[in-house]
Amino acid sequence: MPRKASKVAGRAGALRGPGPSSACRIALIGFGTVGRAVVKILCDGGNRSLRLTHICNRNVERKKQPWIPADVIWTDDVQSVLGSDVQIIVELIGGLNPAEQIVRGALQAGKSVVTANKQLIARHGPDLLQLAASQRCQLEFGASVAGGVPVLPALRTGLCGDRLHGIAGILNGTCNYILSRIESARIPFSQALEEAQARGYAEADASEDLDGGDARAKLAILALSGLHARVVPESVRARTIRAIDAVDFDYAAELGCTIRQISRADLKGDTLFADVGPCLVPTGSPFGRVQRNLNLVLTSGQYGGEMAFLGAGAGGDPTAVAVVSDLMFVAERLSAGSVEREAAGHISAPSISSDFETPWYLRFFVRDQPGIVARLAEILAAHRLNIDAVLQKPGFDKAALPFVITLEPCRNSELHPALELMSGLDFAIRPCLCLPILR
Ligand SMILES: NC(=O)c1ccc[n+]([C@@H]2O[C@H](COP(=O)([O-])OP(=O)(O)OC[C@H]3O[C@@H](n4cnc5c(N)ncnc54)[C@H](OP(=O)(O)O)[C@@H]3O)[C@@H](O)[C@H]2O)c1
Repeated sequence: MPRKASKVAGRAGALRGPGPSSACRIALIGFGTVGRAVVKILCDGGNRSLRLTHICNRNVERKKQPWIPADVIWTDDVQSVLGSDVQIIVELIGGLNPAEQIVRGALQAGKSVVTANKQLIARHGPDLLQLAASQRCQLEFGASVAGGVPVLPALRTGLCGDRLHGIAGILNGTCNYILSRIESARIPFSQALEEAQARGYAEADASEDLDGGDARAKLAILALSGLHARVVPESVRARTIRAIDAVDFDYAAELGCTIRQISRADLKGDTLFADVGPCLVPTGSPFGRVQRNLNLVLTSGQYGGEMAFLGAGAGGDPTAVAVVSDLMFVAERLSAGSVEREAAGHISAPSISSDFETPWYLRFFVRDQPGIVARLAEILAAHRLNIDAVLQKPGFDKAALPFVITLEPCRNSELHPALELMSGLDFAIRPCLCLPILR
């Protein structure tokens, strides 16, 4: 390993783990991309309140590093870590199984937990928070949404004095990379995906990212932390970005917009309106300006209005900063003897709806023939939907002609029956692409 590692060893010394003996004792489970970056920060000698005592990983022998102080215990036995005198367990193995059992076991053993695991918190966050509260332990998961962007800690502290009613974000760096590449180079979706995979921004099977599964898990965590609402991720509608074509960016530009995958949740009374998927956003808006694989979260509060959080949503080092910041927060509270987490007791269970009222962008690919617009207009009129504009750029092949109709605001439920009819028409060569326009 690299020069950085020996520099770390030089500063921390090879004899004793980082931090004085009075410091909070930490065990890390999962020495992968994020785990290694966390250990690097803990071992650089800059933090006196945290003391790494254990690193746990399966088949641990191959993981050992010479730059880590000699008295840090390497083990593949999770139970021995849970039975030790550590005060905080950092779970960084990811996934649900066995991460859930490990985190429950840690809390039941009276250890506080810091995790970056979005699947675990999206699915079991409310229960785990209750368990932590009942054990007088803490559970923090600041790195589970937007990686290094400190939006969850902001919801926990800096914004907890407001009454938030809305959260929206670009939460998936893979989708944002792909969409902003199609936008800037006007390349097909498949080529942008290949590029993202070649650069390590997308996995070989990127379905969770492209089809919205990853983002809606993060939205569920944001709703839990900021809106105090229990949201089962699968109850949120997720729309794929796979159908977005380079031509959609041409038409979006005509409307002063671009396209981004947006995750949004608005709490209105007992209903949480929530949706994840590609949307038109104004080119000059905060969302429209987010490029590459960055993340952006906007919150809306009754008193404080809108706040924005922008930065690196992934990567070992930025994510490790979020994990270590959580560790410092937990260690401080443990040393102050203050362990209650306010959110644990006040979680509502609103009904979930995707029936937002917005203007819409409808893009058709048709085999050209006379009367197409008239037939579409007839269906829209029959469903009492108002056309705002019809856009058709010249120069396309008449056998696969793209054109766009925009609609004045209506609900998704009002639009859906008309969409089904329009997509089934004999001249339609692809299903109609339907995107909300967020102004
Ligand atoms: N990477 C990011 O940019 C990022 C950003 C935000 C959040 N996160 C979250 O951070 C967590 C860790 O991500 P990562 O990218 O660091 O993953 P990773 O590189 O795959 O590391 C996971 C580590 O855990 C070990 N492990 C897996 N299952 C285990 C088990 N049952 N017992 C013991 N060790 C086990 C793995 O060992 P092997 O070497 O044997 O596989 C590996 O060393 C995940 O929850 C992820 O969603 C990651």
